Amino acid sequence: MRSKWIMACTIQRSRRGRAAGPVDLVALDLEQHRGDAFGDGRLDRPVPSRRSLQHVLSPVTASVRRRGRIPCRLMEFAYWAPNLGGLVFSSVDETDWSFASNLAVARAAEQAGFAYTLIAARFILTSGRGEHLESLTTTAAIAAGTERLKLVTAVHPGLWHPGVVAKIGATIDHIAPGRFAVNVVSGWFRREFHAFGEPWLDHDERYRRSAEFIEVLRGLWGTDEFTYRGDFYRINEAWLAPRPATMPEVFQGGNSTAAREMAVRLSDWYFMNGAEPAKVRAQVAEVRELAGAAGRRLRFALNGYVIARETEAEAEAVLDRIMRHANADAVRAFASHAQGAGASTKDRIGMWAQSDLASLVQPNDGLRTGLIGSYAQVAERICELGDAGVDCLLCGFLDMPAEIPAFGEHVIPLVRAAGGPMV
Ligand SMILES: Cc1cc2nc3c(=O)[nH]c(=O)nc-3n(C[C@H](O)[C@H](O)[C@H](O)COP(=O)(O)O)c2cc1C
Repeated sequence: MRSKWIMACTIQRSRRGRAAGPVDLVALDLEQHRGDAFGDGRLDRPVPSRRSLQHVLSPVTASVRRRGRIPCRLMEFAYWAPNLGGLVFSSVDETDWSFASNLAVARAAEQAGFAYTLIAARFILTSGRGEHLESLTTTAAIAAGTERLKLVTAVHPGLWHPGVVAKIGATIDHIAPGRFAVNVVSGWFRREFHAFGEPWLDHDERYRRSAEFIEVLRGLWGTDEFTYRGDFYRINEAWLAPRPATMPEVFQGGNSTAAREMAVRLSDWYFMNGAEPAKVRAQVAEVRELAGAAGRRLRFALNGYVIARETEAEAEAVLDRIMRHANADAVRAFASHAQGAGASTKDRIGMWAQSDLASLVQPNDGLRTGLIGSYAQVAERICELGDAGVDCLLCGFLDMPAEIPAFGEHVIPLVRAAGGPMV
């Protein structure tokens, strides 16, 4: 029987011996792409390759080598719903975006042991005119067709009014009691606001608006009658009937200083872009300390792109295929638009501020999390992330109908079997 815990030295040796990917890597800094136009069709720079990810894909670190194995904290699993289509900028086949596909995947995920799904929000795609589904309506329909899954719906302050979202959320909570949650996304894609003729606020102003947005949601969900006077929203003796039976959880994307300040004050969950365990550990410690000083407890969710197969070689072959077919134009267009996030702030802290083109083939830096390998290797890495402070792993998959049940069958049981107490 194959050992549950793979020795790190074996993995390191096998990686060193591996042949280079098919396309040579040039890791390009986002800064170089500041001027790239949306969909300008330029292909004068090399397509990122798998080789470019070597520095971020070492799945077992020194800490694991020292300790042999890591007892796993109790961790929840979430997955990205396929409502926006694929999760990588590559021409490989990915999960179908249709509603039938979203529902089938949701049902399979709750069977497989996933606690949450994230239904992302995009009104136009950075990559062009691909078809995709709106988040709140997709959530309502998934709610009616599932039994246990918690539904985290992304909403944009500035494109939605919080009173309208509060009412829709209360309605979904009626359809699926206790299962509605929001991911408040403050916006980084200027072109999208421009498309709908809405003002584009400065980065930190967007977070001030989001903070008010959350206060209005909570006020309407939590009180019989609510009045609010903010700089962005006014609520006048308003009420909801019915109100949610329990207060919906508030997640937030955003890793900049302004995002952290908002999370510490108002969110239940802090979502992180993909990163290596050492960086995750540092970010969690920093934000947790800020929350502690404010007398609040935050939970941490991390994005990670999972390629888990029977063997490490099979998983790496999938990654090679993704990188060989990477869509360089789409990556560059995204990199250019993502300049509107943390990179546009004074301290240049935040999402994508340090990303390189190779890791942006999965636009939420999910490849950096290093969840690529055999089932046992991926389980080991998950325990390492738990040890770094992650309470929920948000998983992306290439072929969700096949990979979500496989993850439930082969990876989650290994993690659970290694479970330690929740810290
Ligand atoms: C896990 C995760 C999911 C996100 N989902 C969305 C989304 O669906 N739509 C969106 O416009 N932004 C989404 N974002 C982006 C953030 O809301 C935010 O705009 C971005 O992180 C830039 O923030 P920053 O400048 O504070 O780092 C997501 C971020 C994370 C980490």
